[in-house]
Amino acid sequence: MSDIAILEVDGKKYEFPIIRGTEGEVAIDLKTLRGVTGGVITLDPGFKNTGSCVSAITFLDGEKGILRYRGYGLEDLATNSNFLEVTYLTIFGELPTKKEFKRFEETIKSNSMVNEEMKDIIDGFPKNAHPMGILSSLTSALTAFDPKSVNVEDEEEMFQAICKTMSKIPVLAAWAHKKNLGHPMNYSNNNLSYIENVLEMLFKIPTESYKLSPKVVNALDQLLILHIDHEQNCSTSTVRIVGSAHAGLFASIAAGVSALWGPLHGGANQAVIEMLKDIQKDGGDVEKYILKAKDKNDPFRLMGFGHRVYKNFDPRAKIIKKAADEVLEDLGIDDPILDIAKRLEETALKDAYFVKRKLYPNVDFYSGIIYRALGIPTKMFTVMFAIGRLPGWIAQWREMRLNKEPIGRPRQLYIGENQRSFVAMSER
Ligand code: CMC
Repeated sequence: MSDIAILEVDGKKYEFPIIRGTEGEVAIDLKTLRGVTGGVITLDPGFKNTGSCVSAITFLDGEKGILRYRGYGLEDLATNSNFLEVTYLTIFGELPTKKEFKRFEETIKSNSMVNEEMKDIIDGFPKNAHPMGILSSLTSALTAFDPKSVNVEDEEEMFQAICKTMSKIPVLAAWAHKKNLGHPMNYSNNNLSYIENVLEMLFKIPTESYKLSPKVVNALDQLLILHIDHEQNCSTSTVRIVGSAHAGLFASIAAGVSALWGPLHGGANQAVIEMLKDIQKDGGDVEKYILKAKDKNDPFRLMGFGHRVYKNFDPRAKIIKKAADEVLEDLGIDDPILDIAKRLEETALKDAYFVKRKLYPNVDFYSGIIYRALGIPTKMFTVMFAIGRLPGWIAQWREMRLNKEPIGRPRQLYIGENQRSFVAMSER
């Protein structure tokens, strides 16, 4: 095995070190490329082949369908752990002791008050504003109430900032939902677990008592574990790049929320349900929609299908599909949309177009069905994804700062006009 890669440009050879990850992944270290070649850069739109960092958080093998947080398999964690424990693991690198977990949970709870003036900001939104827009704005607004930047070298300061972020974002998410409903905003209830609290803040209304269902709590807990981290995806890269300019944690997370909103990323879970409802309204003919997805003159894509990294199957989708069946059965719900989803999946997986391009259902294909069963409205699906992804964003932001990564600033290949002289308007 060589440790050197040789690149030839215009007849000159350059050597670059090869770096190997702990799982045998290989990277050519091109940090010095531009300097030694006098300006040559790599061009890789969409960063399909570009590693932007080294990371010890998540291992993902798209060919084999493997996903591990800090070395622990996703299925192992989803079966044996809970959302807050996996959050601790993802951020700090090790499973917490009983004492560490207690301190983490208690510090999160002690930070759950959100400044009342935030409600003035919410008042300014139209009632039907998308909750992801509200969440991104409110997350950014947290900076105004807590402007001191965190000293990332100070473990205690960092710990407090992490707990504060974990604590306040679900409150804002629930408030975004309440704004849409025109209901009063709920406060955090520190007698509840993290996930119970999320559910109560979303669903409780002042006129009635809210009874938590253990089945619903478990289903949401498991679902959110699957969303915790996914290495350098669009929103996580956004969080890292915004943070690389030394923007604070709240500002960086706000940018991540905006990136997640896109229908090609976290917004796909909402888009999947809308697509399934359209198919249902249109008579349930899945073949017609498969044809549309294959038609290059039709912009329609099968939402919840395909993935930049998984070219075999998405391990999260496997767990979620099973969970969707169980949740619906447990809650006694018969959702015709699930049947359409299953028929669509079956048909697509047999179709040469999807087989050739290795397009499989991704995490978002079945997550919306579970959210629907839990009573979460479609507009809130991506917000739920954001609550799930929050620990991953925090872990990646912290790692980026502790590794003292340089400010993210890609290069470009200019293909515009060469220098020319200004032409007066009268002569154009
Ligand atoms: N339906 C129909 N054709 C598709 C689809 C789809 N969902 N996804 C990819 N293709 C085709 C695409 O047209 C292209 O065909 P061709 O080679 O003939 O030009 C080929 O497959 C490769 O697609 P790509 O767009 O180059 O692949 P990508 O890695 O850039 O995009 C993706 C990945 C997830 C953006 C894309 O598969 C997609 O748009 N899927 C639907 C949206 C979706 O479900 N997103 C959620 C992703 S998982 C949650 C998350 O991590 O955020």
